[in-house]
Amino acid sequence: MIKIAPSMLSADFANLERDITIVEKAGADLLHVDVMDGHFVPNITIGPPVVKSLRTKSSLVFDVHLMIENPELYIKNFADSGADIITVHAEATNHLHRLIQMIKGEGKKAGVALNPATPINFLEYVIEELDMVLIMSVNPGFGGQKFINSAYEKITKVRKLIDSRSPGVDLQVDGGVGPENVSGVVKSGANIIVAGSAIFNSKDIPATIKIMKEAGSRQI
Ligand code: DX5
Ligand code: ZN
Repeated sequence: MIKIAPSMLSADFANLERDITIVEKAGADLLHVDVMDGHFVPNITIGPPVVKSLRTKSSLVFDVHLMIENPELYIKNFADSGADIITVHAEATNHLHRLIQMIKGEGKKAGVALNPATPINFLEYVIEELDMVLIMSVNPGFGGQKFINSAYEKITKVRKLIDSRSPGVDLQVDGGVGPENVSGVVKSGANIIVAGSAIFNSKDIPATIKIMKEAGSRQI
């Protein structure tokens, strides 16, 4: 069974509690929380205080995607705020191994994200340390972008790496995924699907989550 992680980026920021409750009741498996700092990506979203407030309103797994520079400065803040999984970008640090240990030292699951142009060999010496790999299928910064097709091959390669070296690691794909292409993404090897605009802009959120789960799970 694949997991669906609705991305809060496409929710109504004036009604976050309402929107999160909707996806939680609709069978979402995780809540994908996009944190942007205006430096690593050209957009700004939310920080630890918002995560902390939402933590009291939801029992979903909080999957926090840090698109920020100097992530080492903020790991503890996000851990204390209630993140369950903390994903950092390989491009945002000179000391990826140390950063992963920092996340695990806080008792949280650790993920590493790769931008579309970043080669997968960044994962080679840390894969055994990870709980999750996040393959970006758009350039991070905004919701509603088009899926970049070269991601399919990348997902396939990362799936092989995971299966041969550390089979428990989750493979998450983020950006431009919806009911129309979820099956191809899962067929390539993803088992956690992030979807922002496809879910929050749909007229029937529960139906969209159900369709995506079923379309994805048929491929496994
Ligand atoms: C992009 C974010 C994504 C984004 C996905 O920078 O990391 O999580 O919200 O949005 P969609 O699903 O609309 O591409
Ligand atoms: Zn994201």
